[in-house]
Amino acid sequence: MEFGSNARRRTAGALAWAMVLCAVSGPAAFAADAQNGKKIALQWCSSCHLVSEDQDTAASVSLPSFFDLSKDESWTEDNLKTFLADPHPKMPNMNLANREIADIARYIDTLTP
Ligand code: HEC
Repeated sequence: MEFGSNARRRTAGALAWAMVLCAVSGPAAFAADAQNGKKIALQWCSSCHLVSEDQDTAASVSLPSFFDLSKDESWTEDNLKTFLADPHPKMPNMNLANREIADIARYIDTLTP
């Protein structure tokens, strides 16, 4: 992929450009990376939320799982990004980068068949 070497330098602004690219060249051009989002979610979110079927930490049953979030139409990828930019009260301040937030939001979006 021609932009591969630039991946790390992509900024949030470049996301829009990547989407344009995606329309032309398919999903590979998306800047957000669901696999990486899953990794971050397992690392940072799985102590409270159920984020994946293969997680080995116990999640709180009273919290929405990422499968719930994915099914819930009010949690769009954009809403999630806005929400995560400002961590919820009980969640540790994890200083997620925009790139990581986008990856998590993409990952959650992929959980709905
Ligand atoms: C320390 C526990 C904890 C961690 C870690 C945590 N959360 Fe949460 N999360 C909560 C709690 C508790 C709520 C319920 C809302 C509240 O009390 O603010 C919540 C609510 C949410 C909601 C809103 C659900 C709804 O329907 O209102 C989203 C989205 C969410 N978390 C995403 C995440 C993501 C993504 C991560 C990882 C980056 C994460 N959370 C990490 C505890 C946590």
